[in-house]
Amino acid sequence: MAEREPVLVCTAWPYANGSLHVGHLAGVYVPADVFARYQRLLGKDVLMISGTDAHGTPVTVRADEEHTTPAEVAARYHAEFLTYWRDLGVSYDLYTTTTTENHKDVVQDEFMLLLDKQLLYKASSTGFYDPVARRFLPDTYIEGECPYCHYPRARGNQCENCGRLLEPEDLINPYSRLNPDAQLERRATEHFYFDLPKLENALLGWARPMTHWRPNVYRFTINFLEGGLQPRAITRDLSWGVPLPPQVGPGWDDRRIYVWFEACSGYLSAAIEWARDIRGEPQAWERWWKDPACRQYYFIGKDNIPFHTVIWPAILVGRGDVILPYDVPANEYMNVGGQKASKSAGVGSTVPQLLEAFDPDAIRYYLIANAPETADTDYTEEDFVRRNNDELVATWGNLVHRTLSFMQRAFEGVVPEHTTDPEVAERVAAARASVEAQLDAVHLRAALREALNLARFGNEWFDRRAPWRQVREDRAAADATMGSLLDLINAAKMLFAPFLPHTSATLHALLGYTDALEARGWRFEPVPDGQRLPTPRPLFRKLELSAEAAA
Ligand code: MF3
Ligand code: ZN
Repeated sequence: MAEREPVLVCTAWPYANGSLHVGHLAGVYVPADVFARYQRLLGKDVLMISGTDAHGTPVTVRADEEHTTPAEVAARYHAEFLTYWRDLGVSYDLYTTTTTENHKDVVQDEFMLLLDKQLLYKASSTGFYDPVARRFLPDTYIEGECPYCHYPRARGNQCENCGRLLEPEDLINPYSRLNPDAQLERRATEHFYFDLPKLENALLGWARPMTHWRPNVYRFTINFLEGGLQPRAITRDLSWGVPLPPQVGPGWDDRRIYVWFEACSGYLSAAIEWARDIRGEPQAWERWWKDPACRQYYFIGKDNIPFHTVIWPAILVGRGDVILPYDVPANEYMNVGGQKASKSAGVGSTVPQLLEAFDPDAIRYYLIANAPETADTDYTEEDFVRRNNDELVATWGNLVHRTLSFMQRAFEGVVPEHTTDPEVAERVAAARASVEAQLDAVHLRAALREALNLARFGNEWFDRRAPWRQVREDRAAADATMGSLLDLINAAKMLFAPFLPHTSATLHALLGYTDALEARGWRFEPVPDGQRLPTPRPLFRKLELSAEAAA
């Protein structure tokens, strides 16, 4: 048997500073899972990994607000995030956190490796010192005006308005978030810097041929690299985070490795943890990190682009012992309830609220059908309910239910002897080809639309053939119709499987199969003559608008 090609599916590591919301699911986690499931069905050797970003100032800020420790906050949200993946069917091989010993070891080893290659250097600089808090401030504790777009509340590491990476000294009129009125002082301090200019040419050589990237990702990255790289400090004045390696010597206890440098390395450390602790083969991670044939996909939100197409690849090029990303399908944002909409957004938009109100496949469907792939989109309960009822229930669910019910009524639930009608066979082949082309290109929204179009055609064909008449007038024609409808549904089940895994598994059983859908792989075949179909039940629930949204 041919070697199965390795595919690494990564998702951004969410900060453990609060519940995730619909935007995170739509932009990162559901798309990644759809893609990973498709690749698995194709027979690829998929490793899907990520974890919770436990460090960084978002977590310390939250802990300060709650008068608790960052460790407590991080552990609490990590546990919550794990329930999301379980309930939504996000199929990680490993979802870990950045607080493990393994992660620390991998990051510290990486630091030493880059230091030995003289890609890191120590330099003194002046840091921002908050005289009221009596401490040096990490970048995100400093705010001020963006020098590029003049957004007034840019953070010291990045402007959230224009997305540019910043250093705190770039800010116009910087102030401390801890004490906005305090007069910030500049005091001498020492940090390690990542010598990015040394890697600029190698990165351009890697990025330029990546013309398969989404246009915004490609353009942003090439502009960034052509604009010239600056050295970046990769240590911070913090006590929460991965400590510097002991080899750098004493005096660094009040500093930690910069969260972005450290968290990105989780993609490597998680693969290593998976190999050792789950697979039980400590070297198994190399398949996804050393084989140039492995394709690595990073699912992220647009604010994460520079870290995944410049900083992380720079670390990897600097290491020189592993492969680089193949694609970084960054999404735009799914906003909530739009600024323009005056009425309440209805059912809340945090993940726990969504999971409370809706079935997992209904959530997955909506988030991909309205995915922010090329532009921001907006979540409203109204739109959710409409798509659920019109598309999932009235189109796909209805085709399945009317076909399977009719099979019980007129065929005693036994698949008739048949060959697939040529028109149906042709529509199935065309739908399959376009779904595959779209999924290969990580155009999930278009792929889902193609699958739904096949279901829509199925309903039209059902009406056109009118099998309720055929059973009375022409039994052979009725056999051909119902057999072909079952074949179409069987194919649509497969096309929907990456998107609606729970429902496709249920439907697989309703079509009389006793094995697991995943075990059969990406297979398209007529439903066997004589196969017995169990009593059907509806695949989806019709939804009503909640009182708040209807108001
Ligand atoms: N925690 C970051 C965020 O929520 C994402 C980190 S992705 C990683 O924006 F690769 F750095 F881990
Ligand atoms: Zn800006």
